Amino acid sequence: VEETYIMIKPDGLQRGLVGEVISRFEKKGFLLKGLKLFQCPKELAEEHYKDLKSKNFFPKLIDYITSGPVVCMVWEGVGVVASARKLIGSTNPLQAEPGTIRGDLAVQTGRNVVHGSDSPENGQREIALWFKEGEVCQWTPTVGPWLRE
Ligand code: GTP
Ligand code: MG
Repeated sequence: VEETYIMIKPDGLQRGLVGEVISRFEKKGFLLKGLKLFQCPKELAEEHYKDLKSKNFFPKLIDYITSGPVVCMVWEGVGVVASARKLIGSTNPLQAEPGTIRGDLAVQTGRNVVHGSDSPENGQREIALWFKEGEVCQWTPTVGPWLRE
């Protein structure tokens, strides 16, 4: 099954949105397999966002992500990568649809509360980057038959 890396950015933690964000993924029916609070070092932030290195906002992005602890998560589910991106909404919160996390809870691209992997490959890359061996748990929810026929 597919996994994705979801991260509540420092603004989400500061604004008390941790429970709200986790709740949306839980209610959707995805499976939480990894969860930790973490102060991200600059080097890790740069590696995570390395594809954006040439962008003019890159230094600001690194400052933002390292400005306080983040909440790191691994979520599992069928089609979870694309579905999580839909739940999160467009990068610019003013363009994100109401009902999405960014559409409901944020107003600026530079303070958009949450990250989600953009492909299954990047999901695996990011999980390996943010979690150590043994920090991701395998478990079987008893609700399984009520989510999938
Ligand atoms: P992530 O899930 O965080 O990867 O966001 P995304 O996939 O919707 O967007 P993208 O990967 O293109 O950009 C990564 C992050 O960089 C965004 O979520 C923003 O926090 C930040 N970012 C992107 N574009 C801009 C910009 O034009 N200005 C600023 N200040 N930040 C930006
Ligand atoms: Mg991205």
